[in-house]
Amino acid sequence: MKTPSRSGNPAATPAPHIAVIHGPNLNLLGTREPNIYGSSTLEEINRRLIELGRELGIAVSPFQSNHEGEIVDFIHSIRDTHAGIVINPAGLTHTSVALRDALAAVALPIVEVHLSNTHAREEFRRRSYVSPIALGVISGLGPAGYEFALKALAARLEQTASE
Ligand code: DQA
Repeated sequence: MKTPSRSGNPAATPAPHIAVIHGPNLNLLGTREPNIYGSSTLEEINRRLIELGRELGIAVSPFQSNHEGEIVDFIHSIRDTHAGIVINPAGLTHTSVALRDALAAVALPIVEVHLSNTHAREEFRRRSYVSPIALGVISGLGPAGYEFALKALAARLEQTASE
């Protein structure tokens, strides 16, 4: 049993941590191709996820980087402290074996999120190196996709804690 149950005395059962990782260029959300990615900023998305996490009894740790190696280092650093990962790998989705290997190495449950529907766009966006090792993939639902992903991970943690 890896994740503590959230039933019982809350003081004795610390909230599980879930990382929300945003890949390259997502720091520009709000102004970046708003016709594709919408008008919400990354800060607004993170704020909402932290709030939702509180409602779900989850501590959300947002992280964004434009650098592949920094994202790999961050994934390594949360190996023993976090119970799951929501990740929008952005452009690295379609190119990065190193990112996929880092995610596979830490062996945490992952939900992959894309704001846009990557299957309705250019051919090169249809391939994801992350999807085969993800619990699930949410693509095309905008910022709500992150919320669905967080809820799905919270439900999964609840389930594994009670097993
Ligand atoms: C994206 C889709 C990717 O193809 C693209 O490179 C991004 C954002 C999305 O959220 O829709 O940067 O991951």
